[in-house]
Amino acid sequence: MATTVTSMSPPDRAALIARYRRSRERSRALFDLLVDDAYYSRPIALRHPFVFYEGHIPAFSVNTLVKRALGQPGIEDALERLFARGIDPDGVCGPEPDALAAWPSRELVRSFAAEADRRVLDALERAEFDNAAGGATDRLEALFTILEHEAMHQETLCYLLHRLPFEKKRLPNGYRPAGDGAVPQSEWVGIARGRATLGVDHGTLPFGWDNEHPAHAVDVEQFSIERFDVTNAAFLEFVEAGGYDNERWWRPKDWSWRRSSNIRHPLFWESDGRDWYWRGMFGRLRLPLSWPVYVSFAEATAFSRWRQARLPSEAEFQRAAFGTPEAGERRYAWGEDDPCPAHGVFDFSSWDPHPVGSHPAGRSAWGVDDLVGNGWEWTGSIFAPFPGFRPMASYPEYSADFFDNDHFVIKGASPGTAQELLRPTFRNWFRPCYPYVYATFRCARER
Ligand code: AVJ
Ligand code: FE
Repeated sequence: MATTVTSMSPPDRAALIARYRRSRERSRALFDLLVDDAYYSRPIALRHPFVFYEGHIPAFSVNTLVKRALGQPGIEDALERLFARGIDPDGVCGPEPDALAAWPSRELVRSFAAEADRRVLDALERAEFDNAAGGATDRLEALFTILEHEAMHQETLCYLLHRLPFEKKRLPNGYRPAGDGAVPQSEWVGIARGRATLGVDHGTLPFGWDNEHPAHAVDVEQFSIERFDVTNAAFLEFVEAGGYDNERWWRPKDWSWRRSSNIRHPLFWESDGRDWYWRGMFGRLRLPLSWPVYVSFAEATAFSRWRQARLPSEAEFQRAAFGTPEAGERRYAWGEDDPCPAHGVFDFSSWDPHPVGSHPAGRSAWGVDDLVGNGWEWTGSIFAPFPGFRPMASYPEYSADFFDNDHFVIKGASPGTAQELLRPTFRNWFRPCYPYVYATFRCARER
């Protein structure tokens, strides 16, 4: 039921082997950005240190595909348990062996990963992917699960790396962030009343996560949405108007966070007391006023209220991005073409955002810019199951553990989002006071 394909042809195998290898190389390149002494560092207190992720990706693949789906033996039980889980729903990592000595050596982690790669590649070459072949779960589903799991953690790595001091990272050859551009005036685009499809039915796509299933239609009233993401320039007005000092714009829990953590501006901003700067991946820049601001849900919500607006719902985002005035829906925001760099900033094409509105080829049918790429977009919707939700066999806790009314849906994509994750039904989610992700927003209002 979950997937319709039951066996794999030789060209499918070759393509998946190539995809797996490319994905492993990309992870390797991300770890190679770290200088050696940063390997055990932990730039975000709520997440594990880098060493964990180098072990977690292969351990997850062994646990999910090799052991669970294929019913084969694992490699080393202690490592497969140590590296099993990245984050708990309540936002803490659990008891933490923070001491350097408690985590295995990099050599051990890498030899475990190399063995995991051999097992996965061996399976891709010769395992039977017919579900009748046994194992506890759908084998093909497990295979896509490990591929997309790795892709998602490549983005985790990007935003963890982002928080490290610059001298802890190696600058990739020839990288220079995009320059600043002209700051566009805020523009409201009217979206006619109509329907948006959320989710997709089982068996329609080669793979979707459990929270993307099944499809259902939602009636969306007429509304307006901003054509561009909120820029640093626009957000600066809120900061200068004392937005961080005025409780009335903040939800009560967000205000407590703002106060207890003494948040005075977006995490990606720095100040020397005179000027504002953007903390880029590899260097500090004078605040690029035309770039989308990256903020938490809490800050996005406060800004929206100050603007006498609100965040779009998930259904409104879906309609603005994939709906059309003619009542159809598109495969991508820009139409039917496969994603390419002209459509937006995603798939690791940059380590930092670009000016808003600089990818007109990616515009939606309504003329809304940058809905996919250049930063995830906060919606006002709580992350919740679609009617008919079923936890996936390969990874039942993937979504279900986060249906706690304290995570919000983000849609779209960021510079660190792999191309495979750009499908319209893909849903991402974070807690309201998590400021580390590459997430921006735009406002919506009734008319
Ligand atoms: C869906 C991106 C919120 O990074 O916490 C990775 C993805 N789940 N390993 C996360 C995930 C388990 C998850 N997000
Ligand atoms: Fe994970």
